[in-house]
Amino acid sequence: MPLTVAVTGPTGEIGLPLMEALERDPGVESVLGMARRPFEPAAAGWEKVFYRRGDILDRGSLAALFDGADVVVHLAFAIFGSREQTRRVNLQGSRNVFEAAVAAGVKRLVYASSVAAYGFHAGNPPLLTEGVPARGSESLYYSAQKAELESALSEIVAGSEVDVYVVRPCVVAGPRATMLVQQVVKSARFGDPLPALRRGLGRLPLVRPVLPDAGVPIQLVHHDDVARALGAAIAGVGPPGAYNLAGKGEVSVAEIAAAIGWRSVRVPGPAVGLGAGLAKRLSFVSPQLEWAAAFATPVLMDAGKARRELGWDPHFDAPETLLQTAISARETGLLD
Ligand SMILES: NC(=O)c1ccc[n+]([C@@H]2O[C@H](COP(=O)([O-])OP(=O)(O)OC[C@H]3O[C@@H](n4cnc5c(N)ncnc54)[C@H](OP(=O)(O)O)[C@@H]3O)[C@@H](O)[C@H]2O)c1
Repeated sequence: MPLTVAVTGPTGEIGLPLMEALERDPGVESVLGMARRPFEPAAAGWEKVFYRRGDILDRGSLAALFDGADVVVHLAFAIFGSREQTRRVNLQGSRNVFEAAVAAGVKRLVYASSVAAYGFHAGNPPLLTEGVPARGSESLYYSAQKAELESALSEIVAGSEVDVYVVRPCVVAGPRATMLVQQVVKSARFGDPLPALRRGLGRLPLVRPVLPDAGVPIQLVHHDDVARALGAAIAGVGPPGAYNLAGKGEVSVAEIAAAIGWRSVRVPGPAVGLGAGLAKRLSFVSPQLEWAAAFATPVLMDAGKARRELGWDPHFDAPETLLQTAISARETGLLD
């Protein structure tokens, strides 16, 4: 039977491509999304995606949103803000979502966690599998909140009939998800990750911004591939559980710099030590940068389980995803 799907946060970088995919999905009868700002699905030509304004901090709005839903997808999250500001939406708001989904008796709950839930620990295995505990990193509140929330989710759904799918994407990118580039630009404009290095380079004529490359590989996943994985979870393909999402291959900071027409300088020393310093400086500019830590500590996931059990077949590898992101960033003036 075609599904009725309720989505929190449908207007974000993951939400919009998911809405587009669900609009085309014959297994989906209708989709009702909710976020705070105005949004008009009909403007995109969508006929089975509907939208209402509401806040996940408001339990009444959630109860109304989930009424009659077969599946709840939880994407609403405050990625940017202070530890205190984000905590309210991310912890209390998400708890509200999970509790309302259980109270509504939905079949499935799909939650977008993150690679950050594992934490950026020097002792992580070289390739994280879903069997590694999601411990988070206290020093990065986004990571700490993601880990805490996964554990809250397990408690809230324990004993219920709801099947829970937790996807853990790496950095999401693609033409409609340019947050990565926006944050790189922001960090270069408002803060200087390696002042001494840049001062030296600044003596050269007409230097383009320089990104320090500590040799840390970075995984990317295309927003349309995330939508594919979420679609499989929504349909209940494969057993409930946690699923890592990462496209094939990796990119380096040097490749990111080259893609956006910037330069990079290979910085010496142990990547992790240098990276921790870099993360701190970037954190000062924008403490919530998930990728500040990603740039700093090699955190790579094995996405084999999603391929095997969800039948996930990502169409884009990391270099292709980066290329599409950079083209879009250029076309939309993000680099001007
Ligand atoms: N983007 C990535 O690289 C990435 C990687 C791994 C995991 N994730 C996770 O995936 C999820 C979705 O991320 P995203 O990139 O799509 O985020 P996003 O682009 O920042 O979008 C967030 C969405 O949540 C809504 N929202 C925020 N606060 C809300 C509230 N209090 N009540 C109702 N809606 C609210 C926003 O709309 P309004 O502001 O209008 O309310 C928007 O629709 C998050 O949990 C994120 O941590 C993202």
